[in-house]
Amino acid sequence: TEDTYRIPVVVHVIHFGEPLGTGANISDEQILSQIDVLNKDYARLNDDASNTPEMFLGVAGAMDIRFELARRTPDGLPTDGIVRINGGRESWSMNDDAEFKSLSYWNSENYLNIWVINLTGYLGYSQFPVSDLPGLEGSPDVAESDGVVISYEVFGSTDYGDFDLDDQYNKGRTTTHEVGHFFGLRHTWGDTNDCNDDNDFVADTPDQAGNTIGCPAGVRTACGVNTMYQNYLDYTDDECMNLFTIQQIERMSTVLENSPRRASLL
Ligand code: ARG
Ligand code: ZN
Ligand code: CA
Repeated sequence: TEDTYRIPVVVHVIHFGEPLGTGANISDEQILSQIDVLNKDYARLNDDASNTPEMFLGVAGAMDIRFELARRTPDGLPTDGIVRINGGRESWSMNDDAEFKSLSYWNSENYLNIWVINLTGYLGYSQFPVSDLPGLEGSPDVAESDGVVISYEVFGSTDYGDFDLDDQYNKGRTTTHEVGHFFGLRHTWGDTNDCNDDNDFVADTPDQAGNTIGCPAGVRTACGVNTMYQNYLDYTDDECMNLFTIQQIERMSTVLENSPRRASLL
């Protein structure tokens, strides 16, 4: 666990024939801005780490990990880690998962596949890892769909350029959140509306009786404790999120070192 984890990333841009840099055919710069956000957020080098409330500084964690656009294709040829494909369709839903993933996919033993598409219904979603950890029972053990799907309107960060992103989700935190799921994290509120601090299976994230939306100000309390609505695995706006906890990082490290198609990435 002492070496830096290195994660080779391939970004599949599935567009509809738009000129490069417009619509779903997002620019290389927008893609690079997202890789920068991942590297900053996971290492706790994000500029807004200073917004983490003092009461949570003791549990705020930094992970020793680098996300890098792939430099070799599965066939060993040089690449910039970006694949662009006209998917022949304006938009996609989660039901089309197998269809758009089959248009472009690199083996998920060696690459973190990120599909950027015009996605309706969600900002993004992920495939959970196969693992014995609580909360990961029943994850599909399917290589060809393993990875992360993100809507092009929330991929990248306006902190790095003048990109046309959704105002609430313009700092790249959807991908930070979804990669958290890909590494085995559950939502901080555990997807239930009860007060049970074990339902994300992470002891240092406080109980929540449900998700937090928007961008609250000041201290919010639920279940007799202060809500960590700044956590990347809550549902607040991008500008309000700024931390993972130490035990979330431990859980992700366990998955990275032990799960199929996670340990083989390293
Ligand atoms: N899976 C969630 C959704 O699409 C993503 C939430 C991301 N939150 C954020 N602030 N970017 O509903
Ligand atoms: Zn989620
Ligand atoms: Ca918890």
